Amino acid sequence: MPPRRIRISKAIRRISIMRAMFITRRVEFSASHICANPEWSAERNFAVYGPASNPHGHGHNYALEVTLEGEPDAATGMLFDLKRLKDILTEEVVEPMDHRFLNREVPPFDHVVPTAENLAAEIWRRLEKHFTPGLARLSNVRLYETEDMFVDYSREAVSG
Ligand code: NI
Repeated sequence: MPPRRIRISKAIRRISIMRAMFITRRVEFSASHICANPEWSAERNFAVYGPASNPHGHGHNYALEVTLEGEPDAATGMLFDLKRLKDILTEEVVEPMDHRFLNREVPPFDHVVPTAENLAAEIWRRLEKHFTPGLARLSNVRLYETEDMFVDYSREAVSG
């Protein structure tokens, strides 16, 4: 029996698989703070926050990792311009917070306790306006207060 000729279509079937892609930029800044609720007594603040409630303050070397989610642009191959992302982080976080006393110099921490949790939420608030829904969007803010402790504040936690 002669072999049958098999015609192979040259048309390539495009299979589109949607995957999430994330890109992260890290910056560092140093700041001092007092973790204390000004409406409480010194004793109660010490009971809750420990030595972090010392009214003279103490410092941390913070590291901030900001993650964007989206699809790379077809022409540039980039999800977001990382140079621009660094400029946004510098303008919104590093310049206003680096070498500052958060409780005294950086609103809203004159009346909001500057825990890592509250700092991460404030950083999210400052950054979110720079990203356009449908394009690269803010996905996660990770703030390290020490090498051993970090907070994640993510899109799921904000909008469900
Ligand atoms: Ni502290």
